Formats: sequence, structure tokens, C-alpha cells
Amino acid sequence: MAAPMDSLNILVLVGSPRNEESWTYKGIRIIEEKMREIQPVNFEYIFVQRLNVPFCDGCLKCISVGETACPDYATIGPIAEKMKKADSLILGSPIHTFNITGLMKNFVEYFMYQRNRPTFFGKKAVVTATASGGGHTVVLDFLEQTANAWGCDVVSRMGISSAQMHKPHYLEEVNLVAEEIAKTFIEKINKGELGSPKFRHLMNFRAMQNMSRNQKDTINFRYWEERNWFDAEYYTDARINPFARMMAGYIAHKMRKGVRKGNQKPYR
Ligand SMILES: Cc1cc2nc3c(=O)[nH]c(=O)nc-3n(C[C@H](O)[C@H](O)[C@H](O)COP(=O)(O)O)c2cc1C
Repeated sequence: MAAPMDSLNILVLVGSPRNEESWTYKGIRIIEEKMREIQPVNFEYIFVQRLNVPFCDGCLKCISVGETACPDYATIGPIAEKMKKADSLILGSPIHTFNITGLMKNFVEYFMYQRNRPTFFGKKAVVTATASGGGHTVVLDFLEQTANAWGCDVVSRMGISSAQMHKPHYLEEVNLVAEEIAKTFIEKINKGELGSPKFRHLMNFRAMQNMSRNQKDTINFRYWEERNWFDAEYYTDARINPFARMMAGYIAHKMRKGVRKGNQKPYR
């Protein structure tokens, strides 16, 4: 838990190829300013484009052997360390063709292991998306799911329309939203409580549980076994809504039975 006047370390991942010119960056800078008005903050911006990571080659060594076996670990490892050390994360991406940028998607591909072996419990996150017109929900949902799967509690989201940013009235609205996000973000970081998982988080846990159970002889399997997660209802002991707990358990049981019997069907 951070004390109210401790300086908070926030790591920002910017998925726009336009780096400092991007509205994604400029929008997050507004959140930074609003946070700075409340409490000292250290913001570090990682511009994904400048990392020059090649496309993930899908070798899955991060899942079977460990993340350090990734052919691009020399680039990814230091970023992973920064993410680990940060108090909180902000993930921002523009909307390209009604989806997340290829740049950001490729970047998070490298953190598949973090999804399989999550560690960021208690870390808070904010996600942002920028479009000239529309497509925010798909990107905000994807970034939120990604940060959640890594273990973070996503406390706020902000979608902005770059075509409107030159209009004073719209900019004023963005400032108000950023102010609200800054307050919530700081409050949640300082409180340091584990977020209560929602039904979709429980279902994601169960899906990973079923998958990891079938990955014998991998680092994933050992990781889950050491933490007794194969017998758990969620990663942490955060409070769970009893109805959501019951539903997730029931559906997971059905899913496991289906997989065991081999009666799954191709998707149509
Ligand atoms: C390849 C490409 C695809 C785009 N697709 C969309 C889109 O689907 N919807 C939309 O509203 N804007 C779209 N845009 C516009 C961008 O979202 C807009 O320029 C935004 O400001 C980019 O974010 P940035 O300023 O952070 O780089 C697209 C831009 C590019 C370059």
C-alpha cells in the first residue's frame, strides 16, 4: 500500500506508431497532469514502436520452458522488469481498422506467459483508446482483458476521438474525464486492496485452469501446481460474489467434462 504522499511510479505503454505526436500519448499526458495535481508521480513512457520487436514467432517457449527462453527476451526482458517494478500501468492504443494497432497486439503477444502465469495482483491499471471516429469499445475491452489477465485490476478506461480534440468543448470534457480517472486511480493505488473478481474474470481463471491442467511437463503446469491453483476458485483470496462463484464453478465443470469426453465441436 502506498502512503498518500509517496511518489507513484506509473509505467505507460503507448501503442501508437506516432509516438509523442500521437493523441494516445497526449491523452495520457492529461491523466498524468491531473494525477500530479493530487500526488507526486513518476511517469515512464514506453513507445512500443521504438522497441523494434519483430513479430512474435509463436514458438511458445515462454509457455513450455519460461519467458527467458523467448528469442526476443533481450528486448522484452527489460520491459517486463519495468512492468514488474511499476506501482501501476497504463496501456494505450489507437484504433486502426476498428481494432487495436498491430504494433500493440504484437507487443502483448510477447506477454502471453504473463497471462498464463499472472503475477501483477494488486497492481492497478488504466486503459485508453484513440480513434478519429469509432471503434473504442473493441480496443478498450481488449486492453482491459489483457491487463486483467496479467493480474491487474483495471480501475478506469478512457476513449477519445482525435478528430474532436481541437474543439475546446470536447477538450474540456476530456479534462473532466481525466480528472475523474486520476482521482480513482490514485485512490485505488493508495488503498492497495485486491479487486473483487467479476464473473468474466472467474471464467477466464477457469479457462486458464483447464488449459494449464493439460500442459503437463511445462513451466505453466508447475507454476499452477505450486500455487494450488488447480484446486482454487480464483488466483487470489479476494472476495467473490457467491452467485458468480457458483456459476463459474458449474460452467468450468461442464467445460472440463466436455474436453475429457472429446465431444467439442468446431466453431461455426
Ligand atoms: C491504418 C489506420 C486505420 C484506422 N482505422 C480507424 C478506424 O477504424 N476508426 C477510426 O475512427 N479511426 C481510424 N483511424 C484513425 C486513427 O484512429 C486516428 O488517426 C487516431 O488519432 C490515431 O491515434 P494516434 O493519434 O494516437 O496515433 C485509422 C488510422 C490508421 C492509420
